[in-house]
Amino acid sequence: MPPLAELHLHLDGSVEPETLLEIDPSLTREEIAANTSYSDFAGFLKSFVWVNKRLRTPDDYARVARRLFDRLEREGVTYAEVILSVGVVLWKEQNLPPIYGALIREASRSRITVRWIFDAIRQFGPETAKPVFDLAAERVGEGVIAIGLGGDEERGPARLFADLYREARDRGLRLTCHAGEMAGPASVWEALEIGSERIGHGIRAIEDPTLVAHLAAKNIPLEVCITSNLRTGAVASLAAHPVRRLYDAGVPIILNSDDPALFGCTLTSEYELAAREFGFTEGQLAGLARNAFRYAFEESVAVGR
Ligand code: HPA
Ligand code: ZN
Repeated sequence: MPPLAELHLHLDGSVEPETLLEIDPSLTREEIAANTSYSDFAGFLKSFVWVNKRLRTPDDYARVARRLFDRLEREGVTYAEVILSVGVVLWKEQNLPPIYGALIREASRSRITVRWIFDAIRQFGPETAKPVFDLAAERVGEGVIAIGLGGDEERGPARLFADLYREARDRGLRLTCHAGEMAGPASVWEALEIGSERIGHGIRAIEDPTLVAHLAAKNIPLEVCITSNLRTGAVASLAAHPVRRLYDAGVPIILNSDDPALFGCTLTSEYELAAREFGFTEGQLAGLARNAFRYAFEESVAVGR
């Protein structure tokens, strides 16, 4: 494989059971398995929060980051934009600065170039998201590159965040947004209207030919996470996944692992899946790998775009 980059990867979704056991030795494997099994998107979000609640101290976050960077390095990843659920950190009433300090210390020790995307919980609304985006803006040039929205798309439409997105862009942040994962094409249109430069998932764009043509014409990439979509029920089956149809329609595609520990995947396994199930050739996979650099928010990485 050529060098790889990850553009849609949640730190809090990368915590392996072994790491949870190190963080909290009172846990058992059975307890972890029971709390991280789910059968739909709502269940997945619950698992995500359950894992997150185990992360209490800056050292816990540092440990998780170290494990993630080591694994990415072994996989051949040289650049990663890692999503930190700052919305969840604040919801847990934790203090972000020492946590972020611990994370960037780990990042500086890794051979991987790491940038951070601060993510707010959309169903909590814009007032709760504002401090998340303020914390991001205060760290532009110190590792934070972008903001995003995660959580329940249906209960937190992107339009509510229009002012916050405009303000974030004016403060030097790049913009991405989960959309078109569990909700339909209208949700992707809204994410674009508030200025999103990339779309997290975006797979339900396939239901709107005008939107597909727009994404292709405007060169707006989708951060596609195939295994995630299967595991959360965003698609009914692998065969139903639209990645190939979106690619063939000229939409820029980037492959990502999303929440690798909760979905049981890696970035490499996503490329293998794309080849095996969707017939992407070696040359096409190399093109997808290049896309991950081309559409990186870090300008020095995105050269040649
Ligand atoms: N969608 C929405 N929220 C999330 C996701 C996702 O794929 N992963 C972690 N939080
Ligand atoms: Zn995600």
